[in-house]
Amino acid sequence: MKQVILTGDRPTGRLHVGHYVGSLARRVQLQNSGKFDEIYIMIADAQALTDNAEHPEKVRQNILQVALDYLACGLDPEKSTIFIQSMVPELTELTFYYMNLVTVSRVQRNPTVKSEIQMRGFETSIPVGFFCYPISQAADITAFRATAVPVGEDQLPMLEQCKEIVHKFNTVYGETLTDPQIILPDNQACLRLPGIDGKAKMSKSLGNCIYLSDESEDIRKKIMSMFTDPNHLRVQDPGRTEGNPVFIYLDAFCRPEHFAEFLPEYQNLDELKAHYQRGGLGDVKVKKFLNNVMQSELGPIRERRKMWESRPADVFDILKAGSEKARATAAKTLDDVRHAMRIDYFSEENLKQLTAQE
Ligand code: TRP
Repeated sequence: MKQVILTGDRPTGRLHVGHYVGSLARRVQLQNSGKFDEIYIMIADAQALTDNAEHPEKVRQNILQVALDYLACGLDPEKSTIFIQSMVPELTELTFYYMNLVTVSRVQRNPTVKSEIQMRGFETSIPVGFFCYPISQAADITAFRATAVPVGEDQLPMLEQCKEIVHKFNTVYGETLTDPQIILPDNQACLRLPGIDGKAKMSKSLGNCIYLSDESEDIRKKIMSMFTDPNHLRVQDPGRTEGNPVFIYLDAFCRPEHFAEFLPEYQNLDELKAHYQRGGLGDVKVKKFLNNVMQSELGPIRERRKMWESRPADVFDILKAGSEKARATAAKTLDDVRHAMRIDYFSEENLKQLTAQE
């Protein structure tokens, strides 16, 4: 079977290092592994509009920002098809057919939808489009016959819902759709990177993000201001590494070679953690190390982003070509779906049957 990746992001803001370790870095790895026949990376503008109907300009402006972040991280348009969701209208038609295979109560039970409804204060006035976005996401995934969907942990309920739709469709209309597998980050620290304030999630609205587009000095300031163990007051005090954002970031970003380069007194992260736990290791020293590690990782990304920022027309050419290619693939799946449902009224096969009946 063809190995196909589909994944994407809502264009509601620039991407941050939480996106990077949770998903972007993995995509680039998978892209370069050579194990996949096709890779589709979608900028989910239609999904972003489901809770931004009154702010289409916010979505429009962030399409370029997200595309820049993608290219900056090393997604390569030669290997990965980067496209804009709403430029593939076949996805909307698929969504409409899938809606009939899902109950309202099933969507209401989707934990991600539940918490997002709460976060947005939508309890009494959920836009219907927003409510249906898990179904539209199933259309995104199945339209490309994705076998692998690399996403953050928060997307797990979406994938479960998608698999249910695939099974239901295949049961009702015959084997048609491809069953996708989720690919989660393999490093625990990458599942959900906390904000620099130690809050559970890095989020634009909380103002606790380090963005891929941040200048090096901003990154340094943010890291030096990070929360650590509140009980680690003096250098000699024993400190906690568990739940300590600085160490979670090190878990996510640091590799053994970073020690050789920036902190040769230690062999690896375990030794550094042990020293912190014993006492005698100050926060500033650990933060300076984290700063070096993150600067070395994010520097090349920022440089590549700047290069693409100076060529916005080329970025849009990439998106346009990607959207055309994506559209052709989705159209093929939509044909298969209409055929399976026997609503392909004007197909040759159908017309032939009509004449045979005469
Ligand atoms: N829901 C994803 C996000 O919040 C974006 C998305 C839309 C997506 N359709 C998808 C991700 C399909 C993976 C597969 O960023």
